[in-house]
Amino acid sequence: MDLAQRYEAAAPTWEGKIARLGYPTAYAHLIEAAPVSGRVLDIGCGSGALAAAALARHGPRIAALTLADPSAGMLADAARRFAAAPVPVRTVRAGIGAPAFAPGAADTILCAHVIEHLDDPAAALRWLAGRLAPGGRLVLAVSRPHWCTALLRWVWGHRAYRPDAVLAMLAAAGLTGARPVPFPAGPPSRTSCGYLAQRARPTARPVAPACA
Ligand SMILES: C[S@@+](CC[C@H](N)C(=O)[O-])C[C@H]1O[C@@H](n2cnc3c(N)ncnc32)[C@H](O)[C@@H]1O
Repeated sequence: MDLAQRYEAAAPTWEGKIARLGYPTAYAHLIEAAPVSGRVLDIGCGSGALAAAALARHGPRIAALTLADPSAGMLADAARRFAAAPVPVRTVRAGIGAPAFAPGAADTILCAHVIEHLDDPAAALRWLAGRLAPGGRLVLAVSRPHWCTALLRWVWGHRAYRPDAVLAMLAAAGLTGARPVPFPAGPPSRTSCGYLAQRARPTARPVAPACA
């Protein structure tokens, strides 16, 4: 079974599984520190747990929500969850690197526990940075090394990155102000870490002095 098939198979029980492990609480903690607004894209959304935390905390500031995942099962779950959302919601069955997502089209990107599954996480972060509008924010969660992660890794085959390695990849992707937001308790505090970063706004060119 490849990764896509394993996530497809996991979709029916995913939401309950991550809830038992405390991820919704961890995501609420991360979102509390994140100024989510505008056009929000949750990519690799799974059942939409991070987007749900964002909508609960920052709903009035969210203009539209796009839920994206290559897994049809995950996406269907996420769509059900947001069926009565107070903002326009669209679903896209595609992942990082897909042409469906235009450069600069998102004001906030949510991406939890996805890049560590990919062959080139640094390239994934560059791609995510390119989807952000100037001034846009990336809200990220990435698995970190721990013996608990090693157990999960046996099932999912993903990698784990120390916070300094993730911060270096975020800087290399051209994002600024990157900082970790450690999860406060439970399994998420051991297996994972949250991060915030921003795409810089272009600096205004100095106005040339008028000729006398
Ligand atoms: C560990 S789950 C995380 C799901 C969700 N973000 C959460 O935190 O509950 C990884 C998700 O990434 C999706 N995925 C796999 N390959 C992907 C890709 N290339 N781009 C985006 N998402 C991908 C999987 O289908 C799965 O839903």
